[in-house]
Amino acid sequence: MTGDDANPSDDGAGSERLGAGAGDDRATLAAALAWQAAMGADECIAEAPIDRLATPSEPTPLPAAASLPKPPPQKATPLGADEAANDARRVAASCDSMAALRQALQEFEGCPLKKHAHNLVFGDGNAQADILFIGEAPGADEDRQGKPFVGVSGQLLDKILRFIQLDRGRFFITNMVFWRPPGNRTPTDGEIATCAPFLERMIQLVDPKVIIPVGGPASKTLLNTSDGVTKLRGRWAEIGGRHPHFPNLTTPIPALPMLHPAYLLRSPAQKRLAWRDALTLRERLDELGLATDPLV
Ligand code: URA
Repeated sequence: MTGDDANPSDDGAGSERLGAGAGDDRATLAAALAWQAAMGADECIAEAPIDRLATPSEPTPLPAAASLPKPPPQKATPLGADEAANDARRVAASCDSMAALRQALQEFEGCPLKKHAHNLVFGDGNAQADILFIGEAPGADEDRQGKPFVGVSGQLLDKILRFIQLDRGRFFITNMVFWRPPGNRTPTDGEIATCAPFLERMIQLVDPKVIIPVGGPASKTLLNTSDGVTKLRGRWAEIGGRHPHFPNLTTPIPALPMLHPAYLLRSPAQKRLAWRDALTLRERLDELGLATDPLV
C-alpha cells in the first residue's frame, strides 16, 4: 500500500474499486486504510501508487537484438558476509569519534539491511555515559525516526529505567544492527557479523562500565552463548575477552541481560522479573557510584 493509495483527494477511482458511492470517498478510504492497518500493513513500500486494475497498455515491440544498447559494465558482485565484515572492520577501526563512526555507517554499503531501510539507527542518549544498552534491531518506528527504542516497547523500557533513576541523559542505547530487518525479522548471523565491527568500535568509544543486552538475540550474541534470555536475565556476566565478533574488546565488561520490552508487552506477567532485574542493575550502579542522584 502506498501513502497515495490512501489519499482522500484521490480522483475517486480508488473508492469505485472499493464499491463506494461518490459521496462517501473519505469515510470509505479511511475504513479501507484502517482495514489495511488491522491486517498488519504498517508501512509504504513504494513512493508512487500503482493502479494494478488499470488496462495494461499495448506492449512495446522489442527492438532487434543488434540495436539493443550495450549492457553497462557489471558492478562488482555484492560483498560476501566475510568480505563485508572485513571491510567494516577496516572502516570502523579508522573512526576516532562517535561522529566519525556515525558518518562511516551512513556511507557503508556492505550491509544488505540498508537497502530496505529508511534510516540509519545509530544510537541515542549520552555517548559519554557509563551505561550502554544494546538491543536486537530497529523496528518500524525506529526506522522512521532514525532512533532506537522509540516505539511502544521503547516507551516501556524508558518507564522501567526511570524507575531506577535512569533516562537517556544517563545511558547510551543502540542495537546489534543499525538498520531495520524487513518485516521485523531477527537479524541473520551474517548481518550481525557485518555490523559487529561498528558495534565493537562504538563500545570502545563509549567505554561503558556496564552493558545491558536487551532481549534474547542480543544477550546470546553479546555473551556468546546458546543459553536463552530467560536463563541469562538478571545475572551478571561479561562481554569481551576472546569474543569472536569483538576481538578488540580484550578487557571484559560486566553485562546484565534483561528481558526485551516487546516480550513484556506480550507477556505482562513477566514484568515483575524485569522490575527485579532493574533493581539488580540499580544495586550495581550504586556500588559503582554511577548515576546516583535522583532524576528531576
Ligand atoms: N527493539 C529493539 O531491539 N530495538 C529497537 O530499537 C526497537 C525495538
